[in-house]
Amino acid sequence: MEIKKNDYFDIDIIDIGINGEGIGKIDNFIIFVEGALPDEKVNIKIVKVNKNYGYGKLINILTPSPFRKEPICKYFKQCGGCNLLHLDYDKQLDIKTSFVQANLKKIAKIEDVKVDKAIGMESPFHYRNKASFPINFTDKVNIGFYKPRSHNIVNIENCLIQHPINDTIIKKIKEFIKESGISIYNETTNKGDLRHIVTRIANKTNELLICVVVNNTKFLYEDLLIEKFKDIPNLDSIVINFNTQNNNVILGNKTKTILGKGYIVDYIKDLKFNISPLSFYQVNPVQTEVLYETALKFCDLKGDEIVFDAYCGIGTISLFLAKNCKKVYGIEIVEDAIKNAIENAKLNNIDNASFFVGKSEEVIPKLIFEDCINPDVIVVDPPRKGCDEALLDAIAKTNINKLVYVSCDNATLARDIAYLSNFGFKLNKLQPVDMFCNTTHIECVALITR
Ligand SMILES: C[S@@+](CC[C@H](N)C(=O)[O-])C[C@H]1O[C@@H](n2cnc3c(N)ncnc32)[C@H](O)[C@@H]1O
Repeated sequence: MEIKKNDYFDIDIIDIGINGEGIGKIDNFIIFVEGALPDEKVNIKIVKVNKNYGYGKLINILTPSPFRKEPICKYFKQCGGCNLLHLDYDKQLDIKTSFVQANLKKIAKIEDVKVDKAIGMESPFHYRNKASFPINFTDKVNIGFYKPRSHNIVNIENCLIQHPINDTIIKKIKEFIKESGISIYNETTNKGDLRHIVTRIANKTNELLICVVVNNTKFLYEDLLIEKFKDIPNLDSIVINFNTQNNNVILGNKTKTILGKGYIVDYIKDLKFNISPLSFYQVNPVQTEVLYETALKFCDLKGDEIVFDAYCGIGTISLFLAKNCKKVYGIEIVEDAIKNAIENAKLNNIDNASFFVGKSEEVIPKLIFEDCINPDVIVVDPPRKGCDEALLDAIAKTNINKLVYVSCDNATLARDIAYLSNFGFKLNKLQPVDMFCNTTHIECVALITR
């Protein structure tokens, strides 16, 4: 059958894609339909036809999925951040578990590993402890989130997955812009000052840090900004981040504290952590405890092991494991994060953890082959792009037989498992943990053994 733009079809949705889009077929031609769910019959209008697949606009749901939910967010259609909000939460967990299984099969060619169902939250809302709001100016000031696949900002007054304090912060930052007359950053011309607002709130202590990112080397409105925000309950710190780079990176390397101590303090279980603005910290504090407990369980420590924690951030996993082993070595590329990690070990009276600034793929081979430290267990928790091959090569050359891989991108996890399988490693267990509820993202902990 010929399929042309502007044609209408009734189709069955048979699957869901990694961005939450429904997938159907017309004859054998694949059509992606945003907003449609598996097991639905929908009426669509073809909006784009490529060689092997096309896109349809959802016109009407003829037979709804029994798992369809009314998305309780007024920005759902434009924002796209919560691309599974129209789906029952328990079903979201099933779908994300099947994403992981599909990648293991497709990329790592693994058929026989049982992936346990993703562990979800009791209440999958207002869970994020960090928000990054881009700011631009069109006919007005816009603050919110980027629309999918664009840099157009959807103005947001409240967000279902963020901490509610952000609603007040957005309102106040709009007032600050009006009163100060500060110029707004334009990413095309790389001119204008105000780029982003980043907020962090500690789950256990409620300490709040507001970070204002400017495209400048100075900031002229400190007093007004402090005045504007000083009444916000639990406000601990205001920092200015200077970012004059013409790219998509949110934070620059230089930060000035204009109020408070310049970092927040939080607890994971009974461990206390200092968290500075440039350091990575897991965004879902409730599920972080589940994630780390799972990693600890997979490490199965007896007390006399040497453990490497690659990509350690502020040392959270390292310190979580330290009580259960002889010695932990944490490795992280961001200097501020390692400063925090060293402070955090002291804060918790932990003296069997050492931390190193540098690339895991450079520091770990040095620790093993030059300093002759033989780890019993290696934990890796890389960014989305996964582990560098040099790190995997080094791991392969040791006689280690247990690797615990914490991953926020199961496609690169599957790729790295496939690579390690060339050296006798095998995926033993995999537990997904839902850190990013109502979105298609899923965190995983994998036990890889040899
Ligand atoms: C997903 S975070 C995990 C941090 C920590 N394990 C946690 O749970 O909070 C990844 C970390 O890897 C760091 N990183 C990125 N590339 C790196 C590299 N090549 N070597 C070491 N650390 C790196 C990032 O700065 C970030 O702190």
